[in-house]
Amino acid sequence: MKLLFAASEALPLAKTGGLADVAGALPGALAALGVDVRVVLPAYRGTLEKLVDPVRLGELEVRGQRFTVWSGCLPGSKLVHWLIDYPWLYARDGDPYHDPQHRPWNDNAWRYGCFSEAVARLAMGEASGGWKPDVVHCHDWQTGLVPAWLRLRDPAPRCLFTIHNLAYGGLFPRAQFTALGLPPGWWSLDGLEFHGQMSMLKAGLVFSDAITTVSPTYAQEIRTPAFGCGFEGLLEHLSPRLSGILNGIDEQFWNPASDPHLVQTYNAGNFRVGKLANRRAIQQELGLAPDDDAVIVGMVGRLTDQKGFDLVLAALPELLKLPIQLAVLGSGDKLLEGALAREALQAPGRIGLKLGFDEGLAHRIEAGADLFLMPSRFEPCGLNQMYSQRYGTVPVVHRTGGLADTVVDATPRTLKNGTATGVVFEDPDAGGVAWAVTRGVELVRDPKAALSLIHAGMSRDFGWQTAARQYLALYAAS
Ligand code: ADP
Ligand code: GLC
Repeated sequence: MKLLFAASEALPLAKTGGLADVAGALPGALAALGVDVRVVLPAYRGTLEKLVDPVRLGELEVRGQRFTVWSGCLPGSKLVHWLIDYPWLYARDGDPYHDPQHRPWNDNAWRYGCFSEAVARLAMGEASGGWKPDVVHCHDWQTGLVPAWLRLRDPAPRCLFTIHNLAYGGLFPRAQFTALGLPPGWWSLDGLEFHGQMSMLKAGLVFSDAITTVSPTYAQEIRTPAFGCGFEGLLEHLSPRLSGILNGIDEQFWNPASDPHLVQTYNAGNFRVGKLANRRAIQQELGLAPDDDAVIVGMVGRLTDQKGFDLVLAALPELLKLPIQLAVLGSGDKLLEGALAREALQAPGRIGLKLGFDEGLAHRIEAGADLFLMPSRFEPCGLNQMYSQRYGTVPVVHRTGGLADTVVDATPRTLKNGTATGVVFEDPDAGGVAWAVTRGVELVRDPKAALSLIHAGMSRDFGWQTAARQYLALYAAS
């Protein structure tokens, strides 16, 4: 089985969110099952330098531009990565999608439209050194046009499209559709048109042989108006080829027993000492009071409406009555950044905040916190609640998407049979958050309950093997 795995971000080359974690780990798990994988990404600034001795595979002509295709491996890995190099479009400051002020690049339709066309050409064996995939696995709107372009070829590889987040529809004005040279007939209800705009995500849905999303619950939710972002009718129609495959986590990279970002590593046998050292370290790092009795509530994430940081802000008066400290790391929406910064100034020693992207601190918060709060309004999968369980940190999550699929709520029954791993709450509002954190504090302050939750969480298997086998079955069937 030959697989071309196309994504707009993948660790350790580029990351803004969980897609990078997935694209950085799943290909390796597939290779371990014998799949011959090539991972393809745009060559963002600094990425080519991360490959060991990259070789020039060839050149592709895309919309009058000459793209260079580089091939190489990451240090210590045999997995082949291909980079589509065209510095004018991809090698910029900022993150893959935004300028340094966090404004979306105004040519994103062109950047990812061209990237997708380049991937489709590679998939047909152009500039690929003779290698041709059986299947192309695409992720999110940035690769949505790959299955569309391949639909025009015969024979073409099969396409699987994974939705990581339906809230990003890849919506652009019709002029961009024309500029990308897409067939005029695709400007229709059956094609790429979506309420008067082009949707690159819709292209991925309509033209793929199979569609997955990253948890079974989200696969159901997106067929309803509350979660479907306007695509619910289409997804209902396409439901025979839609399924949910729960993400795994990279158990090497997120392992408290060997994590180089921690001040002290630990495992299920000695977590008390390990967590104490890591608690003290994040209190110091984030300017929290050096209080061994406070319950530390961690939060890490993109500051967007999805993640519910505003609900935490609204619940703060109630939350600060509890014996807690908040350890928050995030970046994104400037209004949310400002509001969080103001609250942190108002509550010195109680709210520790770092605005920005900091991989090491994300690991240290997972290790140092007692509770990890994820009040997401929706969450296709979510990774931090799984990292938390592995790090002996009790997740407190809204019952939605992958959060519902990965955290077992602490009830008298689940606590008794040792399966409980966290707190799962129903209402994504300030009252729901305050209730859930209060419940979390009670649980971690009850030594018997805390031990049971931590042990159950730390012993769960969240590795990629299960998901990799499910994807492999789909590649073979699609
Ligand atoms: P999403 O993909 O919606 O952002 P996930 O929970 O799937 O949500 O994945 C988010 C990933 O990004 C996690 O690995 C998380 O630790 C990381 N992350 C998010 N924000 C930051 C940040 N400011 N600094 C470091 N890591 C972050
Ligand atoms: C998305 C989702 C998140 C998911 C991640 C990886 O960004 O918001 O829930 O875990 O993709 O699949």
